[in-house]
Amino acid sequence: MKRTIKIFNNVDKLSRFFAEQLLQGINNTPEGHYFSIALSGGSTPKSVFSYLALNFKDNIDWEKLLVFWSDERCVAPESDESNFRMAKESFLDQVPIPTINIFRIIGETDSFDEAARYSQVVRKHIPSRNNIPQFDFVMLGLGDDGHTASIFPGNLHLFNSEKIFEVVQHPQTRQKRITVTGNLINQALTVGFIVTGDSKATMVANVLEKQEDWEKLPASLVHPENGNLLWLLDDNAAAKLKYSTKHYEGK
Ligand code: 6PG
Repeated sequence: MKRTIKIFNNVDKLSRFFAEQLLQGINNTPEGHYFSIALSGGSTPKSVFSYLALNFKDNIDWEKLLVFWSDERCVAPESDESNFRMAKESFLDQVPIPTINIFRIIGETDSFDEAARYSQVVRKHIPSRNNIPQFDFVMLGLGDDGHTASIFPGNLHLFNSEKIFEVVQHPQTRQKRITVTGNLINQALTVGFIVTGDSKATMVANVLEKQEDWEKLPASLVHPENGNLLWLLDDNAAAKLKYSTKHYEGK
């Protein structure tokens, strides 16, 4: 695994770097093949997606991109809580991506049936390695409690799950979520954390500097064996890192 940490002094620069990664990945994808991405949810990706739609609408071959989700809240697509709605409004509606290339998690149906159905959809469209679908890019966020996707601190068993998507409950709100599991994350060719804001600085340092029970933090278990691990941070999220980015790279 190759780990790269990038710190940006504003979110536009971070968003441009992310968009260029996507552009490069799609351009390097052979004709007749697709570049697959699993999107993260929450609030952080919204400005990144808006930047992507605004500035890369005309230079990305959207026909070659397959869009999935790393997790979804078990709500209707009209809900403010819907990760699908956030991505749809901030970028998917703004770019000429074919609707058949977009595979949403249907949050409003029975969550266990949907986790099983979505796993089959992923297995159908994403080539597998060792019987685990291998995404080109899995996007992740970081919660203040160290969760990622919807794998919360009490769910570390999901890093050894045979299933590729599981149903969990948010530890505080008890909201049901459908989340990718650890084996699928760690099978990806690239896993990209996008983390911004000073509320995340402590957790970023805990994970990257192995502090404070770091091994109990789901984000610490993200380790794409045969791939790249990318941390895209803004200055605020990186504020508590003791060392320069070089120190963390490669490990
Ligand atoms: C979700 C996410 C989750 C998110 C973190 C960070 O559905 O909420 O996928 O893992 O990335 O909670 O959320 P913010 O970006 O809102 O801080």
